[in-house]
Amino acid sequence: MDDLDDLARFHGDPEVVRYVPWPVRDREATEETLRVKLTQTELVAPGQWLVLAVELRSSGAVIGEVLLKWASDRQGEVGFAFARDAQGQGYAAEAATAVLRLGFDDLGFHRITAVCIAENDASARLLARLGLRQEARLVDNVVFKGEWATQLVFAMLEDEWRSAGDPTT
Ligand SMILES: CC(C)(COP(=O)(O)OP(=O)(O)OC[C@H]1O[C@@H](n2cnc3c(N)ncnc32)[C@H](O)[C@@H]1OP(=O)(O)O)[C@@H](O)C(=O)NCCC(=O)NCCS
Repeated sequence: MDDLDDLARFHGDPEVVRYVPWPVRDREATEETLRVKLTQTELVAPGQWLVLAVELRSSGAVIGEVLLKWASDRQGEVGFAFARDAQGQGYAAEAATAVLRLGFDDLGFHRITAVCIAENDASARLLARLGLRQEARLVDNVVFKGEWATQLVFAMLEDEWRSAGDPTT
């Protein structure tokens, strides 16, 4: 719960939540979701998910969070959100790489996917930089925050992970 103030700072930023499925959250709403996240402490079966806090090594401040979901069989899904002043510095790439490593190397996943709203250029750029392939562009396939939206689907297979090397180096 010590992370609450740091989390509330970016969960309450309309720019940060623009393309994520949550609304702008006040401190109370952020606390409610943090309590749920704290109940998810293991990833041992399909349907489970972990949200991991990303800390700045120098200060210990939480600047973002990354999600790893065990979707089905040996498939995972990743997601991420970072405070506005922590973006554009490679932190999201470093954290997302750690999550891919967890999925492929530790959990033995075969395929990891990510989905983003087509207008979310920063997210699509990050996923491509991490080595995920764009597999689909699903036109107006979801109602997102009250409007029809187009989604991009990205994926990486375990073989591609092994042959790509660490994208952050
Ligand atoms: C999506 C999101 C996580 C991407 O974060 P990001 O900070 O752009 O991603 P990275 O950590 O890879 O940083 C890359 C940028 O930092 C720059 N950079 C600066 N220093 C760097 C360094 N030392 N190492 C790597 N990149 C560096 C890169 O050039 C790159 O810039 P570019 O995107 O203009 O080409 C971020 O925009 C975000 O949190 N958005 C709001 C939430 C959201 O939409 N989540 C995704 C839902 S699908």
